[in-house]
Amino acid sequence: MFINYLKLQNFRSYKSLNIKLDVNTIFIGSNAQGKTNLLEAIFLMTVGKSFRGKERDMVFWDKDFFRIETKSENPRPLKVEYIYESGVGGGRKTVKINGVKRASSALLDGLKCIFFSPDEIDMFFNFPAERRRHFNIFISQINKEYARELIKYRKILDQRNALLRKISERKASIDDLELWDGKLAEHGSKIISERHKIADELNKTLVCDYKRVSKDKEQLALIYNPAISSKKSAKENEDFWAAFLEILLKSRERDLAAKVTTSGPHRDNFSFQLKGRGVETFASRGELRSIILALKLSEANLLREKTGEQPILLLDDVFSELDEDRREHLTKTFNGQQTLVTTNDLDHISVDLRKSSRIFKVEDSKVEELK
Ligand SMILES: Nc1ncnc2c1ncn2[C@@H]1O[C@H](COP(=O)(O)OP(=O)(O)O)[C@@H](O)[C@H]1O
Ligand SMILES: [Mg+2]
Repeated sequence: MFINYLKLQNFRSYKSLNIKLDVNTIFIGSNAQGKTNLLEAIFLMTVGKSFRGKERDMVFWDKDFFRIETKSENPRPLKVEYIYESGVGGGRKTVKINGVKRASSALLDGLKCIFFSPDEIDMFFNFPAERRRHFNIFISQINKEYARELIKYRKILDQRNALLRKISERKASIDDLELWDGKLAEHGSKIISERHKIADELNKTLVCDYKRVSKDKEQLALIYNPAISSKKSAKENEDFWAAFLEILLKSRERDLAAKVTTSGPHRDNFSFQLKGRGVETFASRGELRSIILALKLSEANLLREKTGEQPILLLDDVFSELDEDRREHLTKTFNGQQTLVTTNDLDHISVDLRKSSRIFKVEDSKVEELK
C-alpha cells in the first residue's frame, strides 16, 4: 500500500499544495525550501504525531487551521483527512478516514512509516526523553494496545503526581497513594514488558543492519534498562507488576520530597552499545549516523514482519552524508516499499533510484515535477 496523493492547506510553509506521489519520489531543493515539511505531513498522517514540534506550530503563520489529505489505492481506496484548528479550545484535531470521523489513534491501523534524518542524531543521542519518545511512537505502530496503555499510564501518573503535591500540602493522606500505585504498576508493567520484547526483536537484526550501512562488523546492541527489573527471563508483565509496586513503595519518601514519581517507564532509558561500550562517550558522528540508520532499517523490517505492512520510508537528506558505496548499499535495501527522499543534489541519489522515481523540484514551497 502506498500514498499516491498529497494535498496540503496551510500546513507549515504550504498555503496550498496538490501533488501525485509515486512509489519512489524524490524532492530536490536547497535548504529551507520546504522539503522536510512534506515528509512531516506524511509522517503525521500515518502516526498521528510529528517527529518535530506540536500541531499548533504547524499551522501556516497567521492562519488558524491546517488540513492534510492523502489518498492511497492499494489494495482498497483509502482517503485520510487530518484537520487541526488552533482557535478551537486548546486546539482541535479531527481525523477522517474515508469520510468518517475517527479517533486519531485509528491512523495507527493504516499505513506504517519510518523517518530518518541526520538532523535527528544530536537530539536522539543527547536526550533520553527523545529516545523514549521515538520508541513509544515506533512500538505504537506495531502494537496499538501499547499506545492505549501509554495514554492510561500518563493519566494515572498525572493523578499520582497531583496526589503527591496534595499530600505535601497536607490536603490528602499518604494512604491514598496505594490505589494509584496499584494502577500505575498495572499499566506500567505492560509498557515495560512490551519495550523489552521489542528491544529483543530489534537486537536480532541490528548487528547485520549496522554492517550494511557502515561495513563495520562491530557488535551493536540496543539496551533497554528500566529501573524496574524482573528476576525472571521471560519478561512477562506480571513479573514487572510486583517489582514496580516494590519500587514505588521503596521510593515513596523520595517521591513525596520531589512531589513527582521518580521511577517508572516514563523515566526509563534506552541506550546503545558498540564494542560493548556506551556510544555516548566515544562514538564518532559517522558511527552515530550509522547506528541510527541501522536502527531504522531494523525497525522497518520488524514493522513489516509484525504487521504485514511495508512501511513507507521517509529519508530526509540521508544520502549527502554517505559515500557512494554506502549509498548503493542503502538503496539496495529498499524492496518495493514506498520511499520518499529529499536531497539538495540529485548526484547524491543512485542512478537506479533516480530512474525509478518521480522527481519534484521544491523551491520556496512551490513543488514542480521535473520531466
Ligand atoms: N508554521 C509555519 N508557517 C510558515 N512557514 C513555516 C512554518 N513552519 C516552518 N516554516 C518554514 O518552513 C521552512 C523550512 O522548511 P523545511 O521543509 O524544513 O525546509 P527544507 O527544504 O530545508 O527541508 C522555513 O523557511 C520555515 O520558516
Ligand atoms: Mg530539511
